[in-house]
Amino acid sequence: MTGRTETALARWDFLKAYVRDWHTVGAVAPTSRAVARKMATLGGVQYARAIAEFGPGTGAITGELLAALPADGRMWAFEVYEPFVEHLREHVHDSRFTLLQRSAADIGEIRRAEVPGGFDAVISSIPFSLIGPDGTREIVRAVAENLRPGGMFVALQYHPTFLRPYLLEEFEQVRRNPYPWNIPPTLLLTGRGVRRRT
Ligand SMILES: C[S@@+](CC[C@H](N)C(=O)[O-])C[C@H]1O[C@@H](n2cnc3c(N)ncnc32)[C@H](O)[C@@H]1O
Repeated sequence: MTGRTETALARWDFLKAYVRDWHTVGAVAPTSRAVARKMATLGGVQYARAIAEFGPGTGAITGELLAALPADGRMWAFEVYEPFVEHLREHVHDSRFTLLQRSAADIGEIRRAEVPGGFDAVISSIPFSLIGPDGTREIVRAVAENLRPGGMFVALQYHPTFLRPYLLEEFEQVRRNPYPWNIPPTLLLTGRGVRRRT
């Protein structure tokens, strides 16, 4: 199968998944390569030893993260939608990659078992605005608790305002990087410097 045919199939799988379960999938098409590469750069993935990806879907961002990750780096991917888990099992073959059919909220369990120093970066494209306030607060807090000092959280969002207040609760530095020319227009938010709790 040519790369172009594979891409077309991934797009078709993605659209079907959105129609079946829009609330979990949260987008009609995979993320573009340009945005995926930017996420890898913002997360400093080229210097990382351990990263986590939330919501790999059909692997559009995953591929760019693995391309940037050093040869001795490792990556754990958290995906809840079973057809996407099957798709990734079939298409991603990389010894640095561990696929988990689990929620992003479980990142702490994986960090305690396998990444004692914490993750260098967490790269997310899960639809926080559809997950809602309580689930978002739980996941953002879990990210902050499981990054190494100086680690970076990078989150792709289509909703322009939902996520930022939750990032500000946990991180000292929160930045917005809009991509209005992407289809659909995309916002990349970053969080760094975990706030100390008093
Ligand atoms: C907008 S899609 C992004 C897919 C892919 N990363 C891309 O950018 O093309 C959101 C993905 O997040 C997954 N997802 C939603 N809630 C999740 C959760 N709590 N934990 C892990 N994955 C989740 C969905 O199944 C879907 O694959």
